[in-house]
Amino acid sequence: MPRPKRILLTGADGLVGRAVRARARSLGIDLVAPARGELDVTDARARELVLDRERPDAVLFCAAFTAVDRCAGDARSIAVNVEAPAAWAARVETWWLSSNFVFHTPGPHSPGDPPAPEGVYARQKAAGEAGVRAVGGHVVRVGWVWGAAGRTFASGLAARLRRGETVGAISDVVVQPTWSEDLAEALLEFPRGVSHLIGSGEATWYDFARAVAERVGTGAVVPVLQDALALTDPRPRDGRLQPATLAPWWERVEVAASL
Ligand SMILES: NC(=O)c1ccc[n+]([C@@H]2O[C@H](COP(=O)([O-])OP(=O)(O)OC[C@H]3O[C@@H](n4cnc5c(N)ncnc54)[C@H](OP(=O)(O)O)[C@@H]3O)[C@@H](O)[C@H]2O)c1
Repeated sequence: MPRPKRILLTGADGLVGRAVRARARSLGIDLVAPARGELDVTDARARELVLDRERPDAVLFCAAFTAVDRCAGDARSIAVNVEAPAAWAARVETWWLSSNFVFHTPGPHSPGDPPAPEGVYARQKAAGEAGVRAVGGHVVRVGWVWGAAGRTFASGLAARLRRGETVGAISDVVVQPTWSEDLAEALLEFPRGVSHLIGSGEATWYDFARAVAERVGTGAVVPVLQDALALTDPRPRDGRLQPATLAPWWERVEVAASL
């Protein structure tokens, strides 16, 4: 399928959104990317105004309430993660990002497997998927994304190591670290239906962090069990997805060490 011509990006200032903007620029794609302050995706009037003004052929919906442990106590998370995606998908062809967290059972999971979420955030993402699919939208599941922007573990890792810090890294959860720019490139192919875009190399964050620390040359990494962290919303222990088509993490360690 040809790529949609004019694309509206939401969540443009987030980890994935920033990578999408950069990749779209380098590919010469016609992308409109309102800043967070210009477009609240939960505001129906703002949605209609921006759709009327910009007339996109497709929406790449990267906005989300991603503070996993805060979802239970903040009703805005339902508006952003569940209600808004379906409302947008009903108006314009929409690609919405979901999460490997929708599977709490052992992986690797295929796109056709029925979601089995456990935590509040995971249930919101599963409900978001159902709402988007019900009106013909597309769902792209991703997981363990890292990059220059964002609040995820690997994003600030190299900087902490360079400062000589000792960094705790989860050693009992299998992950498929995915570089945001690899993800952005694949997202801009606009895969249809339900799809998985994730790095093809498996590791724990401890393995990943040790490899980064070796290249950085300072700081240290110590293993931490997930249960030892003050996480209130349950996360899967094995959220692996297949097919895993993006570059394996070991091909991106130099990048991770340079952030
Ligand atoms: N990063 C990962 O490892 C990962 C893993 C699995 C799935 N995903 C999915 O991938 C997508 C992108 O995640 P990400 O890592 O880029 O998250 P992110 O860095 O937290 O970015 C999300 C962006 O959405 C914005 N946003 C929140 N509420 C909004 C609203 N009402 N209107 C407009 N914008 C709003 C946020 O702004 P504020 O911060 O200012 O609120 C933020 O800029 C999400 O659907 C997420 O569930 C990511």
